[in-house]
Amino acid sequence: MIQPVYSPAPDRYENGMKYRRCGRSGILLPEISLGFWHNFGDVNAFANAQAIAHYAFDHGIVHFDLANNYGPSDGSAEETFGQLMKKSFLPYRDELFISTKAGHEMWPGPYGNWGSRKSLMNSLDQSLRRMNLDYVDIFYSHRYDPETPLEETLQTLADIVRQGKALYVGLSKYPADKAAFAYQYLEERDVHCLLYQGRYNLFCREPEEKGILRQAQANGTGFIAFSPLAQGLLTSRYLNGIPEDSRMAQGRFLKKEALTEETLRRIQALNRLAARRGQTLAEMALAWLLKDGQVTSVIAGASSVTQLADNLKALDNTSFSEEELKEIETVSKGSQREG
Ligand SMILES: NC(=O)c1ccc[n+]([C@@H]2O[C@H](COP(=O)([O-])OP(=O)(O)OC[C@H]3O[C@@H](n4cnc5c(N)ncnc54)[C@H](OP(=O)(O)O)[C@@H]3O)[C@@H](O)[C@H]2O)c1
Repeated sequence: MIQPVYSPAPDRYENGMKYRRCGRSGILLPEISLGFWHNFGDVNAFANAQAIAHYAFDHGIVHFDLANNYGPSDGSAEETFGQLMKKSFLPYRDELFISTKAGHEMWPGPYGNWGSRKSLMNSLDQSLRRMNLDYVDIFYSHRYDPETPLEETLQTLADIVRQGKALYVGLSKYPADKAAFAYQYLEERDVHCLLYQGRYNLFCREPEEKGILRQAQANGTGFIAFSPLAQGLLTSRYLNGIPEDSRMAQGRFLKKEALTEETLRRIQALNRLAARRGQTLAEMALAWLLKDGQVTSVIAGASSVTQLADNLKALDNTSFSEEELKEIETVSKGSQREG
């Protein structure tokens, strides 16, 4: 069947999306970005992936977050994106802000993992081929590599910018002391670190607790939150058991053990609070991250257009009363750390 040519919504920049400045930079990012970790692999239906990506762009989500190993299989989310580029987004390349990363295991042997120059350079070349791109907007070191001299990883990031293969660079999941070193090293080479990407949600407060948010802000680096819904825990998904088509049912990255009785009680309490605000739990969880200026953007995942549409509604109300904030703190900050 011949597919009709995609024409994006003409009102895509006027239907609710807001854009935030990314630290001390010229870049604005949408408050909600779309993540390709799950639901875009070769195990997933292309038509659904395409519908989600179209819906996102039609609603002003111009930032898509990828990595070399997203799938499954590894690399296949980038291939899906490459198809989307060819079929839909090529005329709109300059409206899009595309990321990829390297640092997790990708191909066999000593060079397909971690943070060596060899691994990062080769991985980015592979990513560009899979995605049908000449360059990415931002390339991340996906995780700190304790064995490779940090200077080697960082010099590679600087060189990738000089080569024009990435316009900006970022760090993902770096410990605070290594991020501090990285910010300075890159700055001294006239490469500003645009973004720090970290796990941040109502159940995981590490960026607050470990000073990552403060540090990024002081450096003029934006902070972008991944797994803002704790992989689905902070939604209505698991209120009534574990649906067959859910991430938890797959059991790879979100294990059933994460849904303890205590966690379920907290999810239920947060859900009641969200209902009082006239929001779904997913909407409130995203709104909470966007309540002040500390987070530049949240990278939400979605397995359907319906979920993405729900998530976008978060933007309708991102303010919280003092009482709501206090109650959220009491309910969400338990002894455990999930998601
Ligand atoms: N830098 C890193 O190391 C790193 C690590 C992890 C993620 N990330 C990035 O962050 C992105 C987001 O991570 P994530 O997928 O874990 O994000 P998330 O937003 O916390 O979870 C997404 C999942 O929550 C469920 N969901 C989403 N919206 C929903 C709604 N409105 N109602 C009910 N359920 C809903 C869906 O689960 P079901 O599939 O069960 O429907 C969806 O797949 C990734 O795609 C990736 O780009 C980066």
